[in-house]
Amino acid sequence: MTELPDQPRPDDQEQPVTSPSAPEGADPPAEAIVIGLLVAAGVCAGAFIAIYALDRLPYHTQLLGSALGLSFVLLAAAAIVFGIRLVDDEEGEEDYPSEGDPEAQEAVAEIVESAGSRLTRGRLLGAAAGGAGTVLGVALITPAVSLGPVFDMEPMSETAWSRGRRLVDEAGRPLLAADIDEDVFYTAFPEGADRNELGSPLVLVRLDPSQLDLPAGREDWAPEGILAYSKICTHAGCAIALYRTPLFPPVSPKPALVCPCHYSTFDPATGASVIFGPAGRPLPQLPLEIDTAGGLRAAGNLSGPPGPSWWGVRMRQAT
Ligand code: FES
Repeated sequence: MTELPDQPRPDDQEQPVTSPSAPEGADPPAEAIVIGLLVAAGVCAGAFIAIYALDRLPYHTQLLGSALGLSFVLLAAAAIVFGIRLVDDEEGEEDYPSEGDPEAQEAVAEIVESAGSRLTRGRLLGAAAGGAGTVLGVALITPAVSLGPVFDMEPMSETAWSRGRRLVDEAGRPLLAADIDEDVFYTAFPEGADRNELGSPLVLVRLDPSQLDLPAGREDWAPEGILAYSKICTHAGCAIALYRTPLFPPVSPKPALVCPCHYSTFDPATGASVIFGPAGRPLPQLPLEIDTAGGLRAAGNLSGPPGPSWWGVRMRQAT
């Protein structure tokens, strides 16, 4: 009786070796790539915030655009790798089952569950995605701080004007009340102060006191009908450089201060209220007084923050 050669028994066949920590279908390298891309996206978004805050780097605008653009590119790359390598791909050969089919719903739930179970670093992926999303969200709202302060508005109202400060012309000569004629437009500055400060330049006009209809509490702010307003437009900060005076008062429009940038028009007789254009609020008014020598002096500070109507300035005006 001849002996048959040893045949491998089913139990002796080589079995595939699987890592106990990696579920079937897991792809740890792909997960590492996705996590790396998400972290890099968050770092780029953080760089956008830092560049925005520093504000003095060369090629500032280009750096801002590059940081934000790169962050989005990395985020998109992470989503693509995740979609291709880590999400179950199933192709159906049959028609889609009708809507509401419980079997189909169960099958979809299984696919979603199995896709999740394939991730070996699910928490880390979630944390990376959450972190990148949070930093990117902060980066997107960072430019909103440029709209100006909302709560602490006092610094916006600080100017060189205070009671007793003399008004001088462009050459530094003190302005006298007698120098101010009707139908003429004057520029004034605070004596001895920095003229480049936003609150420094004023426009001065003289109107017939009987024409004035100033807001309540300003009855003595315009001695002899002389009015002083901030020269900086409350729309976008251009200089008020035009003065419209009636050529034939019975039919001409009343006197108005005009900004040449977008034609915001202010009525000096009513506290520089806006009668035309995009400006969001009146020009701040400076209360005036005339000293014993006939010189024009400030009787206090401007009635509000000079310059464009920032977010907080508008909110304060509304209250
Ligand atoms: S800046 Fe004056 S109207 Fe725009």
